[in-house]
Amino acid sequence: SESTVFRASTTAPVNIAVIKYWGKRDASLNLPTNSSLSVTLSQRSLRTLTTASCSAVYPAADSLTLNGKPQDIQSSKRTLACLSNLRSLRQAVEAADLTLPKLSTLPLRIVSENNFPTAAGLASSAAGFAALVRAVADLYQLPQSPRELSRIARQGSGSACRSLMGGYVAWRSGELEDGSDSLAEEVAPASHWPEMRALILVVSAEKKDVPSTEGMQTTVATSSLFATRAASVVPERMDAIETAIRDRDFPAFAEITMRDSNSFHATCLDSWPPIFYMNDVSRAAVRLVHDINRAVGRTVCAYTFDAGPNAVIYYLDEVSELVAGTFKAILGGTTGGWEGPFGQRLEKVTAP
Ligand code: PMV
Repeated sequence: SESTVFRASTTAPVNIAVIKYWGKRDASLNLPTNSSLSVTLSQRSLRTLTTASCSAVYPAADSLTLNGKPQDIQSSKRTLACLSNLRSLRQAVEAADLTLPKLSTLPLRIVSENNFPTAAGLASSAAGFAALVRAVADLYQLPQSPRELSRIARQGSGSACRSLMGGYVAWRSGELEDGSDSLAEEVAPASHWPEMRALILVVSAEKKDVPSTEGMQTTVATSSLFATRAASVVPERMDAIETAIRDRDFPAFAEITMRDSNSFHATCLDSWPPIFYMNDVSRAAVRLVHDINRAVGRTVCAYTFDAGPNAVIYYLDEVSELVAGTFKAILGGTTGGWEGPFGQRLEKVTAP
């Protein structure tokens, strides 16, 4: 009837890249200059919960609420692009089966909650847009696969395309101008490497200094290191890390991860004006990882940093106590602290 409310809820996890996406070849379609690869974290750790509903009784404009605050979607081209893509797909479904309710004509209401700080370099936009796209796709009962939906989520936030799948996920940059081949693809499921763990050190829950889109544009336009990174460094690393994941070769996985994080932050420093995402506490975490690996005599843990100072440390379950214990003992009480998003002093997250 007229008053029916149609509804679907879903959660999407955060993903943390081990080969970083940094640089756009097309800013409006969010097409990257290079491929990237990430590990999807456990849904028990960082995630967005989104409910999408539509009804003839809702006010005419689509609405989006994030952590209780109404968002201005009309001024967010990215959100509008995702919603209009999803509506077109629903229209196709309705055209093929005239008995279906015309949900595409109804106003949408989207409500999202993160269980972690937004825009603090904890990949909130990735989980956010992935959850938005999945929730509306479920509401509309779209037949599209996660791979096909990744093309839509990518337009919300590039890294979001990788949060539609679990485990180890590659985002293939693609070559076509319309972006139709710029899609996420599962390289291995989480179950392929059940011993993998991640520790998130929340150095700061503040909003990041330079938003990623702006930072990327500055880097692409001004860094002389960037061209080599995109043209040859990243393609070689993509091959090498996929082999390391296939072989469950942690030392290789770890070294590529750390080098790629360092390379990404080097292009930030090489930008003009320079961009700093890591701080003194971040650098202390880098040193500690190298110290632990040196003391053990092999590579048992790896760091990576996104567009913010927080560290993500990857390691295997067998060294959990050593790695988590050392971090807690040495960096647990530093200024800036390890105050986690859930109030813990040290936030330990199991991944994937
Ligand atoms: O998806 P965006 O536009 O927030 O960019 C994310 C960029 C990094 O997190 C730094 C790297 C990545 O691949 O996730």
